[in-house]
Amino acid sequence: DGKAVRSCLTPVGKVAGRSVVTIEGLAPSDRLHPLQQAFIDHGAVQCGFCTPGMILSAAAPLATDPNPSRGRIVTALEGNLCRCTGYSKIIEAIEAAGAALRGELPRSAEGISVGASFTRLDAKDKVTGRARYAGDIGMEDLVHAAVVRSPHPHGLVQRIDPSAAAALTGVIQILTAEDIPGLNSLEGYSRNEHLLAATGESVRMVGDPVALVIGESLEAARLGAAKVRVDYELLAHTYDASEAMSTDAKAIYPGGNLLNSHEIKHGDMEASLLGSDLILETKYRTRYMEHAAMEPETVLSYVDDEGRVTVVGGHQQPHWARMWIATMLGLPQEDVRVMIPAMGGTFGGKQDPWPLMATALAAYRVRRPVRLSYSRRESFDASPKRHPYDMELRVGAKVDGGLTGLHLRVLANTGAYDCDGYHIPQYALVAGGGPYRWEAVDASAQVAYTNGAKAGQMRGFGTPQSAFALECTLDEVAFRLGADPLAFRLQNAIDDQSVTFLGYPVAETLGYRECLQAVQSSYREELV
Ligand code: FES
Repeated sequence: DGKAVRSCLTPVGKVAGRSVVTIEGLAPSDRLHPLQQAFIDHGAVQCGFCTPGMILSAAAPLATDPNPSRGRIVTALEGNLCRCTGYSKIIEAIEAAGAALRGELPRSAEGISVGASFTRLDAKDKVTGRARYAGDIGMEDLVHAAVVRSPHPHGLVQRIDPSAAAALTGVIQILTAEDIPGLNSLEGYSRNEHLLAATGESVRMVGDPVALVIGESLEAARLGAAKVRVDYELLAHTYDASEAMSTDAKAIYPGGNLLNSHEIKHGDMEASLLGSDLILETKYRTRYMEHAAMEPETVLSYVDDEGRVTVVGGHQQPHWARMWIATMLGLPQEDVRVMIPAMGGTFGGKQDPWPLMATALAAYRVRRPVRLSYSRRESFDASPKRHPYDMELRVGAKVDGGLTGLHLRVLANTGAYDCDGYHIPQYALVAGGGPYRWEAVDASAQVAYTNGAKAGQMRGFGTPQSAFALECTLDEVAFRLGADPLAFRLQNAIDDQSVTFLGYPVAETLGYRECLQAVQSSYREELV
């Protein structure tokens, strides 16, 4: 009846006799509502997972007031979260839709021409509710999976007793490492990471998976997971990378707690620091960062009519996921298909193949379509995060503002598992010197295992942490020299004649100077 309500909080009984409009019914099938069109025109749709909620929340006030204030729009959107687009474009789109409803606004330029915005190929599906995410896909005979996870950061699995869970109504099967027909490993993506911890093996983080429970309903599966009894021998743990690298640290892996290291040396560091007028030492530390994509990890898997294990879920490397699933199931790759539906955000987090592999195992074993969908809590516990860094910098500079030497030490925390953290040291160092000219660089990075949450890909993969520490340090150097921070950066920015601290000629400017020059006037205005 024209009032925006949250579907998850509205029992069906409450809507009896009322008019109910969802995103699918907002406009006749062959046309778009002005809001839907404006969201497309203004680039207010990315993954689209939040889009139906945003549009319907805005549709209600627009229906009675096509010229709402910005404050009213913001109030209408309260409780709606967007993780990809941000809110500016969404608010602009709602204002534009209001203008269109008032008959005031021409459509924005579109099509393939210079200066026009591209329309995202899938934007129309996302503003009309036609986009199908893994959780939207229903199948006959669908069953649900839930994961038994370690509540301990470090321990040895002594015994897994599924009997209480198996006795529950609605629990179909309980799968442990013994049910994996091929390799119980994420090898290729993550060294030493198992799909399920077997009896006698270690769990290394809170949320480490031990068993899968398949149930007729999600409730039955989750209840079953809570009833699987696992006995652990608890082991010493650490969440701190420095502690994990100390000589008396408990080894999380037989080979020790160092996953990988890398160093870059360039120029004569000692001479460059001796010739410096100022040497500044800083320490910076960054923490875990969670992707928190709006769509938690959700995967559907089934065995198709031709006997192929088919996996439908968000991932960024379907061809690799296919290979890892086939290896885990002991099948040729032709017997596995991976399909990527609409994804409700990833930011790197959905490069973890674990949910796909687990769901594939469940479907392969129970021979019915299976859906696994993480709760938000579970997603926070079990998905890979951005690596925390401890960074120590020593930066030399001359009174005329020229940078001299950079001494950098990075210790990255990959948590319990590799998840491509093996490559983190290189990325940390490449970004560690920034786009600046240095006389000399002595930089090294290590990545350590701890019992923290596993860390993996996230936007910028290993570089934002180093850039953050360097840029903060450069601000401090500029402050001590009495230099203007922007002019100081312009003075030291690499140009096409430079040899980078990585030791190779730039041969192009990378646009850094142009970017600094472009922001100069608005930067100065901010300072006033
Ligand atoms: Fe809003 Fe992705 S577009 S959450």
